Amino acid sequence: MKRVFIKTYGCQMNERDSELVAHDLMQNGYDLVNNESDADVVLLNTCSVREKAEKKAIGKANNLLSKRKKKKQITLGILGCMAQNLGTNLVDEVKGVNLIVGTQKFHRISQYLKKISTGHLANYQSRVIDLEEEEGSHHTINQHLSSSAEQVSAFVSIMQGCNMNCSFCIVPKTRGNERYREMSEICDEIKILRDRGIKEVTLLGQIVNAYGRGVFPRLRGESPFVQLVKKIHGIEGIERIRFTSPHPTSFGPDLIEAFAALPKLGDYTHLPLQSGSNKMLKSMNRPYKREKFLELVTALRSVNQNMRISTDIIVGYPGETEAEFEETVSAFKEAAFEMAFIFKYSERSGTPAAQFPDKIPKKIKEERNQIMLKILERQSEASNLKKVDKIMEVLVESKARKGRGELMGRTRCFRKVIFEAGRELIGQIVPVRIKVASSTLLKGSVA
Ligand code: SAH
Ligand code: F3S
Repeated sequence: MKRVFIKTYGCQMNERDSELVAHDLMQNGYDLVNNESDADVVLLNTCSVREKAEKKAIGKANNLLSKRKKKKQITLGILGCMAQNLGTNLVDEVKGVNLIVGTQKFHRISQYLKKISTGHLANYQSRVIDLEEEEGSHHTINQHLSSSAEQVSAFVSIMQGCNMNCSFCIVPKTRGNERYREMSEICDEIKILRDRGIKEVTLLGQIVNAYGRGVFPRLRGESPFVQLVKKIHGIEGIERIRFTSPHPTSFGPDLIEAFAALPKLGDYTHLPLQSGSNKMLKSMNRPYKREKFLELVTALRSVNQNMRISTDIIVGYPGETEAEFEETVSAFKEAAFEMAFIFKYSERSGTPAAQFPDKIPKKIKEERNQIMLKILERQSEASNLKKVDKIMEVLVESKARKGRGELMGRTRCFRKVIFEAGRELIGQIVPVRIKVASSTLLKGSVA
């Protein structure tokens, strides 16, 4: 039996794609191992969104190949976004790579590995490259690993691609145009997960709330995304529905109201701002203004008093002056984001922003990053501290990674909570009284 190790870089969509590959390989007689040194086949599922992510994966690939010379002859594959982005250039960057597979071909990997291992050349010299588009490939991201009895939460891919073309972003190139799965297919998949004990689903898409636009009709003023969420809400046994990543412009009144009407949506959403400066937003090709964005935040907080909102921010975008950066700082405070991912702008070749003048020096990007991180820490800590002494509904996910056998769960507002209790609570929703809070974590005990 061949043993395969899959390493995943980047976002939840990549994790989901890796799960599909793992499932497919297991169906075809492979054994999944947790350690690269035990593997005959190593697959790197890669990310291209920032330069650092690509460098890391290339470094890893070359490191694995240098070991190959000394030790055994592993088969090495590079999958996903970086494969799509760099294409055949990877053959020079990673000499000896056997498999280069783009984002529409995950379901073909077992077939390609077979081809490689039965090739005329010695195993480690043959190569397959497939970066083509494939009609209907988005329908193939539908199988899950048969979960352990304790798995509580699962990712469900509802669409692929993104049509937005934000000037900084490589995703439209690596993931292609928007393609949506049918609602019935998605619901059937979720019912199977429910039957296996899954309590929470996270709907995935590069622009998840634009799901179905222009393809499925709006009904009763509701977008296809809200229609889908409502259908899933009706599936008994599914307790929570989350989604990532939404776009502010597809966040209509119907979705805002859904947060009031549908308890399973919980009290949390991600809402990527990117910049608080209208000039930067325009240059980023983000089709909303600071004011509209802040109105959306207010609307969400007014339909649900417990709403917790996270965001993405890019600092040091080409042309960002000190004053424009300060507008991001003020918008960040005004929106009172409770969590955020702060990124230093990373130039991606082939994107419009790569051609823009007035690049910001590394040192300034670093300074702005540090400023944002400090504000973020203050805001997250302040909001978490408000939860001390409160009783919160926690969906228990697993044993905590560190510590002395405590459990880890999430509140309705997606805060992580650590508390002491027996494993039999995994998968249940339990009331936990919060005792301690930091910027990233709550600790408590069963109330
Ligand atoms: N909607 C997508 C966004 C993908 S990129 C999704 O979640 O799948 C995630 C975040 O990375 C973006 O919101 C943006 O803040 C950041 N990002 C994208 N391109 C970037 C770049 N070139 N430099 C720095 N950050 C970037
Ligand atoms: Fe990227 Fe903008 Fe789409 S950030 S994934 S092009 S919404």
